Amino acid sequence: MLYLAFESSCDETAVAVVSSPDGKDEFTVLSNEIASQIDVHAKYGGVVPEIASRAHIEAISALTYKALSDAGVAPEQIDRVAVTTEPGLIGALLIGVNFAKGFAYTYGKPLIGVNHIKGHVAANYLDGKIKTPFIAFVASGGHTSIIKASSYTDFETVGRTVDDAIGEAFDKIGRRMGLTYPCGAEMDRLAKSGDPGAFKLPSVHLKDGSFNFSLSGLKTHVVNLLNTAEMKGETVNREDICASVTRVICDSVTHQLDACIKRYKTETMLAAGGVLANSHLREAIKKLCDRRGVELHIPPLALCGDNGVMIAAAAKYEFEAGQRSDMSLDGRPSSKDDWQSY
Ligand code: KG4
Ligand code: ZN
Repeated sequence: MLYLAFESSCDETAVAVVSSPDGKDEFTVLSNEIASQIDVHAKYGGVVPEIASRAHIEAISALTYKALSDAGVAPEQIDRVAVTTEPGLIGALLIGVNFAKGFAYTYGKPLIGVNHIKGHVAANYLDGKIKTPFIAFVASGGHTSIIKASSYTDFETVGRTVDDAIGEAFDKIGRRMGLTYPCGAEMDRLAKSGDPGAFKLPSVHLKDGSFNFSLSGLKTHVVNLLNTAEMKGETVNREDICASVTRVICDSVTHQLDACIKRYKTETMLAAGGVLANSHLREAIKKLCDRRGVELHIPPLALCGDNGVMIAAAAKYEFEAGQRSDMSLDGRPSSKDDWQSY
């Protein structure tokens, strides 16, 4: 079965063609096109929604035909059309949703709406059969969630950030240090030569017995620290800040995931999202899972950020579970808490 999948929830237009036989956990990625808008938004220090929408409109048609031609597939050969419907920037989502609807309608193909967070988790489904139930940890620029999944499609959120996402915290702290947006990858690199114990920073997990996170205290603490140093004419070692910030984030994430492992007697853990490109976080989660005898799946770096392949992988299982969308499919800025199909 050939899937054509669209992702346009934020600042990447992505289109992929993926082949997967029904009923089998096998995937062949035939094409994976990503048009990043990072350069356009970098000069504003973050994503400008209107600019993102316009850039999606400009990119999506040519990118689709490139994805099809790179895959060696004609439009009429596509069996199913998948698209991210939520959460994300509404203007950006609508470009993908309406283009996908147009394609599905024109060629008479089934349409499958996909939740972006489910998509990130599904990047791991390319590993082949994964044991369920599992716990999934998703961290990106806009989301930070811990999910209890009883199957590839039945998700329950058990932990989330109550304010900023982890990627957002990396980006905001990095921006205050004068790094270029998005700052996560650069902070990852700088942290390698810093001292993780140089600054005592507040942890980012809530200590109320929940599996939730709060990043705003860390962000404010670091910004104040940099402001005070600046007023005193002191210089702060950027590598040490990056290493210390990374350390508290890794410690809090592993603290919450360890608590989940114990609470839910977890045997399988999936981690996903742009922030999982972080070398320190990958290593910390791997160490935790090794110590607890938990099987861990993290996507290769190329599938951590937003892409169409993950949307195709999620759509396959949604479709096989009976999900069908119709021409009333719409974008939604936030997720439904009950993870229903759309
Ligand atoms: O999943 P993603 O590509 O887009 C969203 O759905 O938001 O995630 C983007 C986020 C940005 O905040 C970026 O700074 C962060 O992922 N990121 C990283 C790294 N690479 C990207 N954060 C930490 N370390 C990295 N190596
Ligand atoms: Zn994402």
